[in-house]
Amino acid sequence: MNPHFSFNEAEREAVYRVIAERRDVRRGFLDVPLPGDLIGRLLAAAHSAPSVGLMQPSRFIVIRDQAIRKAVHQIFETANRRALNSYDGERAERYSRLKLEGILEAPQNLCVLCDRENERGHGLGRQTMPETTVYSTVCAIQNFWLAACSEGVGVGWVSILDPAELYKLLNIPDHLTLVAYLCFGYIEGFASEPDLERLGWEKRVDLKTVVSYDRYSEECVS
Ligand SMILES: Cc1cc2nc3c(=O)[nH]c(=O)nc-3n(C[C@H](O)[C@H](O)[C@H](O)COP(=O)(O)O)c2cc1C
Repeated sequence: MNPHFSFNEAEREAVYRVIAERRDVRRGFLDVPLPGDLIGRLLAAAHSAPSVGLMQPSRFIVIRDQAIRKAVHQIFETANRRALNSYDGERAERYSRLKLEGILEAPQNLCVLCDRENERGHGLGRQTMPETTVYSTVCAIQNFWLAACSEGVGVGWVSILDPAELYKLLNIPDHLTLVAYLCFGYIEGFASEPDLERLGWEKRVDLKTVVSYDRYSEECVS
C-alpha cells in the first residue's frame, strides 16, 4: 500500500474481491433483461480502458434480438461439432460434457471489435508493436468483465464461432477485427472455481510457477 495515497481498505478489498470472484459464466442466467443504464455503465467501463496512443479502437455491438442470437447459436453449434471431432476418446467424452456458451440463455450478447486501421493516436506505440491495438480492445473487455461482476452480472466469452459467419450475420465491415463475442446478464451467483477446473478439463497453475526475476527462467514454467 502506498503510504502517501491509496484507496481506503474497503475499496481496496472490493477491487481484489471482484478480481478473485469474477468467473466466465455460461449457465444460470436469469430471464431478466438488463436495464439500459446498467448496460451503459458497463460499456463506459469498457470504453475507459487503457489503449495504445489513446487510440480507443474498440467498437461494440449490443445484441438483444432473439432471432440474431438464434443465428449466432447455430454458428456456435457448427463450430462446436467441428471442435468436438478434433478430440478422441476420453478427451472427446469430457469435451462433449462441457457447456461452452450462454448465447440464448443470456438476454443480451456483446460483440467486441477492434478498428486496427483507425488513425487515432497518431501511431504512438504501434510502430514497433502494431498488435497493441488489439491488446487495447482486450483491456476494454476485461474492464467490462470486472465492472459486470461488481454489478452481479455474469459474462461468458464465446470464441467457438466461425468469424466469417459472424461478419456476414452482424454486417461487420472487413476493416474491423473480431475480438470477442460475450454473453452477459443477471445471474444468481458466481461459482467459486472455473467451470473447466470443476469439470476436470484443466487446472489452474500456481503463481510461483509463472514468475521469474531479472531474467526469464524456464525453471518457473510448469
Ligand atoms: C480469449 C478467451 C476466449 C474464451 N473462449 C471461451 C469459449 O469459447 N467458451 C467458454 O466456455 N469459455 C471461454 N473462455 C473462458 C475461459 O474458459 C475461462 O476464462 C477459464 O476457464 C477460466 O475460468 P474463469 O474465467 O471462470 O476464471 C474464454 C476466455 C478467454 C480469455
